[in-house]
Amino acid sequence: MAELGVHVWLFLLVVAVASVGAGVANKSCSGGGGLYLATAKEEEEGNLLVKKPASDSEPTPEYSAVKVGEVVDTDDFDGGFSSLDGMLHWAIGHSNPARLRQTAQSVQHLSADELQKRQLEIKDLMEKSKMPSDAQLMQIAITDLNNSSLSLEDRRRALQELLVLVELIDNANDLDKLGGIAVVIRELNNSDLQIRIASAWILGKASQNNPVVQKQASKYISALRLAYILQLGALTKLMKMVKSSSVEEGIKAMYAVSALIRNNLDGHEMFFAGDGDSILQDIMSNSSMDIRLRKKSASLVADLADFQLQVTNKAEPPLFSNRYFLKSVVDLTASSDFDLQEKALMAVKSLLKLKTTKALDFKDFCGLDGVMERTREQLQQLMGEEYQRDFARDMENLCREVELIFRRKLEEVHMI
Ligand SMILES: *[C@@H]1O[C@H](CO)[C@@H](O)[C@H](O)[C@H]1NC(C)=O
Ligand SMILES: *[C@@H]1O[C@H](CO)[C@@H](O)[C@H](O)[C@H]1NC(C)=O
Ligand SMILES: *[C@@H]1O[C@H](CO)[C@@H](O)[C@H](O)[C@H]1NC(C)=O
Ligand SMILES: *[C@@H]1O[C@H](CO)[C@@H](O)[C@H](O)[C@H]1NC(C)=O
Ligand SMILES: *[C@@H]1O[C@H](CO)[C@@H](O)[C@H](O)[C@H]1NC(C)=O
Repeated sequence: MAELGVHVWLFLLVVAVASVGAGVANKSCSGGGGLYLATAKEEEEGNLLVKKPASDSEPTPEYSAVKVGEVVDTDDFDGGFSSLDGMLHWAIGHSNPARLRQTAQSVQHLSADELQKRQLEIKDLMEKSKMPSDAQLMQIAITDLNNSSLSLEDRRRALQELLVLVELIDNANDLDKLGGIAVVIRELNNSDLQIRIASAWILGKASQNNPVVQKQASKYISALRLAYILQLGALTKLMKMVKSSSVEEGIKAMYAVSALIRNNLDGHEMFFAGDGDSILQDIMSNSSMDIRLRKKSASLVADLADFQLQVTNKAEPPLFSNRYFLKSVVDLTASSDFDLQEKALMAVKSLLKLKTTKALDFKDFCGLDGVMERTREQLQQLMGEEYQRDFARDMENLCREVELIFRRKLEEVHMI
């Protein structure tokens, strides 16, 4: 049972909805299951929306391959369903909670074999009953979100659904095609905090490009979408949101900003034009700021520098010759949080490689020598702790790289 657990429950929940038929909508829907599509206006209780794991977790600034698509279960059932999670989400949002519970209870007593049999039946049923595609689910959510006469609750629900759906690159692409981007961007202006947070989060997710998986595809998608998003003024709005008094809003906005401008020249230019560097500096140099925001800032600095290293024909932005800015990054490496320390070191490494950063600024103004020495001492201690050893070794390699680049940069100064 433990092994079957999650998948079985997903399917049973979905089938419960399919057979109960909560809404009233598509009477002409064919097939034994009689699955009905219902938009928000037709449902009695749309409020059972469960919190998905994805909505609880923090988006990682690395946009890792693992995170993207994690929500969607690809197990043995890849046949007829494009997005299990999308279906589940939709099903729950459009079902009768009381009956759903009842059905769920009635299958609790089934054995593993019976459950497996049930799964096959359900799979068969779903194929026949034409589950709504992700695109249809997106369309419903977008239409709801775009309907100004719907309640705040309906709007929040629509955003939650989109949040889950855009995890998949194809869906993120569809968000654009279906006109959802403009609708979501408009919600950045909503007076409701939760709505603004969810909207920023969706934009971030939909725009994050994944450097490992499907590099070409994601590049294509982000280039297309990005021009449009920037044109709608979303970046400016998001940058204001970064400074919000709500930590959560600041974090999601920062996540979206980073995702939007990543590897994009126009995005970078707009970011600097909007005073993005001083926003970053304010966050990094203020130790009362939320640590997640500081980590995201350090990662963004590394991204900005790395991008600059790629586009060699572009003059480096003045930010990089600002020694106060450099110091705010270097100072982060003294943090007692190892993760922040590592991200800051990565940023320092990239900054050192830039032409406009000065070796002597790092040495004299930022005190990089002393910083590296302290970091090494800390690492020595970490090495003694069994469970930290791998991390300590990675950090040591990183330190070695930083020092090497730093030494070389200093030598260049002496040669001149
Ligand atoms: C309702 O069913 C018909 C026939 O199967 C289909 O053409 C139509 O797209 C469906 N409507 C919705 C909203 O799915
Ligand atoms: C918007 O929602 C209202 C209230 O539920 C509904 O009557 C109306 O038909 C919807 N408009 C559109 C364009 O879907
Ligand atoms: C949103 O609603 C307006 C009218 O209220 C309509 O013109 C527009 O096409 C709708 N957008 C989407 C994406 O549904
Ligand atoms: C948000 O509202 C402001 C002022 O009301 C307006 O100027 C701006 O265009 C709106 N932004 C979006 C993205 O709708
Ligand atoms: C530092 O951050 C805290 C918490 O966000 C804020 O209250 C304070 O004003 C900031 N200090 C400065 C100097 O910006």
